[in-house]
Amino acid sequence: MTLFDLTGKIAVVTGALGKLGPVWIEALMDSGASVYAMDHSSAPDLARFDDIKSRYGPDKLRLARADILSREELISAREELLEVFGPPDILVNNAGIDQPPEPGRSYTIDQIPEDMFLPTITVNVFGAFQVSQVFGGLMLKKGSGSIINIGSLYATVSPDPGLYDHIRCDPPFVKPPAYGASKAALLNLTRYLAAHWAKDGVRVNALSPGGVAGGQDEKFKQKFNRRTPMGRMAEEADLKGPLVFLASGASSYVTGVNLPVDGGFTAW
Ligand SMILES: NC(=O)c1ccc[n+]([C@@H]2O[C@H](COP(=O)([O-])OP(=O)(O)OC[C@H]3O[C@@H](n4cnc5c(N)ncnc54)[C@H](O)[C@@H]3O)[C@@H](O)[C@H]2O)c1
Repeated sequence: MTLFDLTGKIAVVTGALGKLGPVWIEALMDSGASVYAMDHSSAPDLARFDDIKSRYGPDKLRLARADILSREELISAREELLEVFGPPDILVNNAGIDQPPEPGRSYTIDQIPEDMFLPTITVNVFGAFQVSQVFGGLMLKKGSGSIINIGSLYATVSPDPGLYDHIRCDPPFVKPPAYGASKAALLNLTRYLAAHWAKDGVRVNALSPGGVAGGQDEKFKQKFNRRTPMGRMAEEADLKGPLVFLASGASSYVTGVNLPVDGGFTAW
């Protein structure tokens, strides 16, 4: 297990108060890391986050409020991180905007408005880049670090419209294109940073979850399961091992890859 040990390591995790943020935080803390967690000032408090904090102790987990589009807020978070924990060893770029079905808001592809495209691209691509600049800079100075960008199965394949055609709306719901386009761009950004920062000891990889179970309607789940070689959606526990692998010395010669954690969804 020493290969996967993160004792004494400092991790930064964005999007900490969303659905997957606490999953990554638990995985890192279970392996011994301390976590500097960040989320937008508008993200509501999360009981699960407070629970993790009380389980591991407040000196091992800290929450900062910062918009990943604001360089100023990121820089003040970085100052606090240095005071509280010191320079980071791990960065998980998890904050992002997804575009699930929104009742009453559907468009044909030729009519999709700008506000359903640009914010997603800006947060998911530029936001992750800016966080990598601000916190990755500390890793470059130290000569080591592991950055993990959270992608998606839709970075690799188009959404299958058949997964959504039971949703009643007019025009029929189509999963907006900006989400997959932003995640595909994030994969290339991953390769770019991996190639340019490898000689400075900083590894950069992507982890692309498939659909994670929770909150989807039954019909969607049935269709999604049928479409997935392993026959089910991802559970939280499926995501933790791959993250710890990429964060730890177990992946010391791995950089620039996308690790799909999708039950084989993108294999056929
Ligand atoms: N849940 C899934 O099934 C799934 C599947 C594949 C990939 N992903 C990816 O995993 C990541 C987390 O997904 P999730 O399901 O937890 O999403 P979520 O919407 O529950 O959480 C996203 C978090 O990011 C934060 N965020 C958004 N914009 C921000 C900004 N400008 N500055 C700072 N924080 C901001 C939000 O406040 C939120 O807490 C995303 O990148 C998503 O694309 C999720």
